[in-house]
This record gives sequence, C-alpha cells and structure tokens, in this order.
Amino acid sequence: MAQTAQTPVTEDLIQGRKALIRGWSTGVEPEMILVRAKDALVWDQDGNEYIDCTAQAWSNNIGASDPRVVEAAFAQARDITHVRSNYDSIPLLRLAKRLSDLAPGDLNRVGFCLHGSLAVEMAMKIAMKNRPGAGPFITLYDGYHGRSLATMAASWPHVNNDFRPYMTNVVRVPSPYVYRCPLGHDAAACVAECAAILRTTIEKGTNGRPAAVIMEPIQGNGGQVEFPREYYHEVRRICDETGTLLIWDEIQTAFGRVGAMFAAEYYGVTPDIVVFGKAIGGGFPLAGILIREGLDGFDPGDDALTFGQFPVSLAAAVAMLDVLDEDDLLAKCRAIGEYATSSLQELAGRHPLIGDIRGPGLMIGVELVRNRVTKEPAVAETTNVYKRAMSRGVIFGTSRYGGIGNVVKIKPSLTITRPQMDRVLSVFDEVLGELEQELGIV
Ligand SMILES: Cc1ncc(COP(=O)(O)O)c(C=O)c1O
Repeated sequence: MAQTAQTPVTEDLIQGRKALIRGWSTGVEPEMILVRAKDALVWDQDGNEYIDCTAQAWSNNIGASDPRVVEAAFAQARDITHVRSNYDSIPLLRLAKRLSDLAPGDLNRVGFCLHGSLAVEMAMKIAMKNRPGAGPFITLYDGYHGRSLATMAASWPHVNNDFRPYMTNVVRVPSPYVYRCPLGHDAAACVAECAAILRTTIEKGTNGRPAAVIMEPIQGNGGQVEFPREYYHEVRRICDETGTLLIWDEIQTAFGRVGAMFAAEYYGVTPDIVVFGKAIGGGFPLAGILIREGLDGFDPGDDALTFGQFPVSLAAAVAMLDVLDEDDLLAKCRAIGEYATSSLQELAGRHPLIGDIRGPGLMIGVELVRNRVTKEPAVAETTNVYKRAMSRGVIFGTSRYGGIGNVVKIKPSLTITRPQMDRVLSVFDEVLGELEQELGIV
C-alpha cells in the first residue's frame, strides 16, 4: 500500500471521537480518519493511500477535490457565502437554468436543498400538492430514500427501529430483483407479476388514491439491483393509466454514474419528478428535485430551509457540470464500467463465490454466495472481502440491505484510471481466492 506523510492523532481528536453520536457506521469499519482525497484516491491519518470504490457514499463522481470545483466554491465564498431563501443568488439561477436544460423530457423546473432525504421529502410534498387528498405513497421492497422520518418510512425497514410511530403512509410492493425474485418466479414472470401487483395495489390496495410511486431506478442500498428494462416502462404505463405520479429517486444514479446524465435518459423513461443529490455538488452538500411542466410547485411557506440554497454548493455544482462535460466523463464511465464488468465476468469463471454481477456503468454490484445453486448469501465473506481489501489499499462498498449484506459495490469516481481499476480487480481476485481456499469451495 502506498504511503505519504502521517497526520498526528492528537488527544482532542481522540476525545472528539468519544463525543460523536453516530447513526450509520456498522462496527466493521476501522477507526480511520480521512485527511486528503484526490480523484479516486483517499489518504488516512497514517499516510496510507486507498483506491476508494465508494466515491465517499457515491458522491465524488468527478473525483475528489477537483481544483475547478474547489476554485468555483472559493470564488463564491469570497463574494457571498449565505443568501436566505427569500432572495436569489447568481449560482442559484445559473444552476436552475442549466439543470432545466439538461434534464430529460419536460422536467424543467428545479428546487434545491442540502440533503437527499429532504429532497425526497420535497418530491413527496409536490406530489401531495398535485394530488390533494391522496392516500399513501407506494415504494418498492428494499428501496432506500433516506433517514429523515418520512423517508425512513419509505425505505426498507431496519430491524428494531424506534421510529415506527412516525413511519406511516407507505405501502411497499415487491420489485423484480430477478436474481432472487421475491415471488419465486423466473425473470419474465417476475417482471409481469411485480407490475401486476403494483397495478392492483394502486387500484384496490390503499385507502384513498396513492399520491405517487417512489422508486430508485437502480436500488443502491438495496443491493445494487437493476430491474429488467421492460419493468421501468411498465411502471410508467401503470402510473399514466391510473393517474399516479411517478417519482424517481436518482440520488445515486444521476450525473454520470450509469454512463448517462440521468438513469431516466438511460432507460428511456421520463418520471414526473426526479430527485437528485450526492454527485451534484462535486463534493459539496446539495440535492434537489426536477418536476415536469404542468405540475404545481410550492406556495409560500410550503418549503423553506435556512441553508437550502447555499450559494457555495450551487457554484460548485455549476463547476461540477462543466467538469463532467470538459473531461467527457460519461463516455469514460461507460468505457471503464464495461471493462470492469467484463473483467468481473472472467473472474466469475474462476470464483464460485461470485453469484451475480450487476451494472451498468460504474454502478457495479457483485453478489457473493456460498453456493451458486442454493444462492446462500455469503455475508461473513463479504465483510471479509471489505476488511482484507482495505489492508491492501482498496476500499470496497458493501450492502446491508434487508439484513442480508452480501453485495460488494464497485462505484468509484468516474475518473478512476485503468491501472487503478486493474489493481481493484486484482485485489478482489486475490481476496476471493483466499476465502474460497478457506471455505474449501475452490
Ligand atoms: C437513493 C437514495 N435516496 C436518498 C438518500 C438520502 O440522501 P442523504 O443521505 O443525502 O439524505 C440516499 C443516500 O444514500 C440514497 O442513496
């Protein structure tokens, strides 16, 4: 593992760690302080260098600390850092125009906030305004939409959570995760049956007409699950025929991760509302929604957050979009993504632990199983892949969806180089080989 200078871990940092309330770390992660990042690389306090296949929660699509984004943010900060939401700023208007031009179909109106969860709530509020008196939201099994109270309800439930009193007004329907169809069908029947259940749930399964269907085009936290293409079109048809709004949560998929600007473009479906977040700020906090022509927006007082239109993040986002273009990162993502996926297919020929490989672009998930016939989830092995790869300078993502947790995620910055990707693949190859030896499944 490459090394650079160390950063002293002083007593105040140790005390700070003790003082911190955490809500996400799984207990598997090492006590690591990240002190520097550049493109697809990060460095810790001991000077260790890692190839980061998580792009820090799939956010650094254009690479970490791009100087063009950092400079745009600094320049904005020198002029004005904070503008309350009653007034406009230059980057606010510039980004709104840019996104309305970029978005698919007639998704031409934009709203901003700083967190994906709140952006999903904005989308829910827009749906409620446009379907007054409507009943619940419909979401998919294993979907993930955030950790605010409303979006936790819309996400797969984590066990023993204490928030159930506020987790209401959502009905979940099965989705065609065809590798393990929740209804036990093959791929074609899985799509047809899941779509049929969605339709009957909208028509008969809720008290009052549902406000909207909320779905991720590719489930990220839910285990890197892409659905068969026809499902996306079928859901659009069902929503059109039943007058239900369709919200796509593109917080993970937008801005290049699937090799297109939006997954909506990639699958050829235009939702009524698209939610974005993560990559848009180029490493600065930003999220928001795009809504289609003809939908009502907000009335005064419906939606206002003190820092919701943070000019520094908005300026960084304009620069981030320039970088995506200037560096041709969508094409780069498609090329390196295809290379990685086909190399993983080759590895699958040698590694029985690999059960399923899913894309597209750099939205890659590898589902590990102890037995390809029974598909017994290789949960401990997935944690081991994470730990052993970490000690060799590669940070993989892992999925803990539905309590299973047997998916390794490879979702680095789109700037990852071919030698870096080769290193990631060779560490994966090495670690899988060791685990298979130990399990006696070579
Ligand atoms: C698909 C999806 N929706 C919503 C969220 C919530 O975004 P945030 O953590 O910015 O609130 C996430 C975050 O991981 C996500 O992946």
